[in-house]
Amino acid sequence: MTRILGISGSLRKASFNTALMRTAQGLMPEGATLEEGSIADIPLYNADEEAATGIPPAVEQLKEQMAGADGVLLFTPEYNNSIPGVFKNAIDWTSRPASDIERIFGGKPVAVLGASPGGFGTILSQDAWLSVLRTLGTRPWYQGRLMVARAGGVFDDQGVMTDDKMRARLAAFLASFSNFAAAQAD
Ligand SMILES: Cc1cc2nc3c(=O)[nH]c(=O)nc-3n(C[C@H](O)[C@H](O)[C@H](O)COP(=O)(O)O)c2cc1C
Repeated sequence: MTRILGISGSLRKASFNTALMRTAQGLMPEGATLEEGSIADIPLYNADEEAATGIPPAVEQLKEQMAGADGVLLFTPEYNNSIPGVFKNAIDWTSRPASDIERIFGGKPVAVLGASPGGFGTILSQDAWLSVLRTLGTRPWYQGRLMVARAGGVFDDQGVMTDDKMRARLAAFLASFSNFAAAQAD
């Protein structure tokens, strides 16, 4: 079984990116699962707090989920043409202590996708992640892209994806990425 971990970078209940992640859970190819990781309880990074009390439990949990996964999918919103602070903060925490970076991120298959009500579907935020993923020594997957633009017309009020073409594109993205992650795990 290929185990993929999905992380949504939004804390919003009606988040398009969380809706995208939950849609993806139902579209995983045979032989692969998409587990949900959460950034909800991760505090703002403060090196003094880290020195005093160590790694917070929510960060430890996410780190171990990442370590145990064959691949990681980042469902990223876009704020001001870049990565939202809450999401970057969460991944920054998971890179602590630095001595753990290789275990958590080294050679890890990672892909980025995202949804936005705007017309460009998080393209700049996705690009901004690339330098982070390189710095952490991951193995980014470049064979597919998925930008869900004008997300208000792609999901209904319950967060169900109602756009069949997008659903097919998402399924294809997930199948290719899962193959890639499985091949790295062999
Ligand atoms: C501070 C802020 C900046 C934003 N900047 C962008 C942006 O640069 N590009 C974009 O497509 N959407 C932008 N948006 C709109 C977000 O895409 C929108 O709020 C989206 O719903 C956030 O993702 P979520 O639905 O997963 O929470 C911004 C929203 C906020 C609050």
